[in-house]
Amino acid sequence: MSCRGALLVTGGAGFIGSNFIRHYLSEHQESEVVNLDKLTYAGNLSNLADLESNPRYRFVRGDIADRGLVESLLAELSPRAIVNFAAESHVDRSILDASPFVLTNVVGAQVLLDCARNHWRGCFDRHRFVQVSTDEVYGDLGETGRFTEDSPLEPNSPYSASKAAADMLCRAYWRTHGVPTIVTRCTNNYGPYQFPEKLIPLMVLKASRGEKLPVYGDGLNVRDWIHVLDHCRAIETVLLRGKVGEIYNIGASCEKRNIDIVKSILRQLERSDELIEYVRDRAGHDRRYALDSSKIHKELGWAPQISFGEGIRQTVEWYLAHPEWTSACLTGEYRAYYELNYRHSVAPKPGGARAVCPDRSHQGVHADGEMAT
Ligand code: NAD
Ligand code: DAU
Repeated sequence: MSCRGALLVTGGAGFIGSNFIRHYLSEHQESEVVNLDKLTYAGNLSNLADLESNPRYRFVRGDIADRGLVESLLAELSPRAIVNFAAESHVDRSILDASPFVLTNVVGAQVLLDCARNHWRGCFDRHRFVQVSTDEVYGDLGETGRFTEDSPLEPNSPYSASKAAADMLCRAYWRTHGVPTIVTRCTNNYGPYQFPEKLIPLMVLKASRGEKLPVYGDGLNVRDWIHVLDHCRAIETVLLRGKVGEIYNIGASCEKRNIDIVKSILRQLERSDELIEYVRDRAGHDRRYALDSSKIHKELGWAPQISFGEGIRQTVEWYLAHPEWTSACLTGEYRAYYELNYRHSVAPKPGGARAVCPDRSHQGVHADGEMAT
């Protein structure tokens, strides 16, 4: 691998990054990809085991917040573009401890931007910095409407606040220094290789083992779902044709209530709804997300290709067909996290009443009046 002019992907050993690298290398037979990943609990080299001997792929273990490492990597590679997936990505973990989120999602992004600024100085027009962000930066939607790229940023979790901060840094480095940043904001992804702390793989894992499925609050929170490969194609599109300084929402207009997702997984696995256990709500739990993605449709010609029905069927099958992959995630760290996060789990309230009031969820207060801990 010559590497000079390669694509530098950060966080490529995680869920979306690994799907993106596999997709990109297969679609661009002349391209080389270098994957810089710290290998946190969510980073997993087995996600890319099939690429280990690919001469156009190279893995580098390291932290995006390590300035010396990033500088020397840029000097060695002279990448034509950086796609930043590296992040702490789980909302519940950010409620337990926000520090790693600020260090990676904010400081790490700033270090990458600074190094790109220094390295690409004088030739910004030939380079791109794509920041992979999230719809969660917009905060909580009411019953109707969708977020556009112009919606105000009102992040409600430490995770989404750290992602919003990185988005703002991208804007500032573009406006102030001319660093060629583009920000993408995507909805909830599902598909293969997602760490089983997130809703869909967690519920598949629990249901397949006949264990209780922990549904937060009343289960009526709405998320807007997209298959990870559709997200990867959108990022590829933005990388190749996106306009510098712009923001692109990415979504498949597929709103689902959590409880309906959980029930559809139970149906596919032929398990009873009795496995559902309503548990104490997530503090500050956003009620609904939905994105207006008409800008990327109209301006760049991207559209999702995978229907939710087909995508979720294939996804559940993938997890069932890869029990060794899931088992390898269930380390001591995972178990300790699980114990901590679900320690306040409670029995369903009579009548299935919502466990947190919409107006109080913003204050991190649970329905029983106790402050979230
Ligand atoms: P993930 O948690 O599965 O993977 C994150 C990867 O980043 C891991 O491989 C981890 O080892 C690596 N990493 C963490 N800290 C690092 C650091 N300091 N330096 C280098 N590598 C580091 O996350 P994901 O679900 O694949 O999300 C990827 C990106 O997409 C994130 O930025 C996330 O905010 C964004 N996003 C995710 C979704 C979703 O539904 N999963 C939706 C929209 C946006
Ligand atoms: O919207 C994009 C975001 O989607 C990404 O930016 C995040 O990185 C990604 O983690 C995801 O965030 P969510 O918080 O929406 O995803 P999660 O899978 O954690 O939860 C989805 C919904 O399911 C949410 O309303 C909380 C609920 N839930 C989740 C878990 C883990 C439960 O009811 N029970 C659970 O055990």
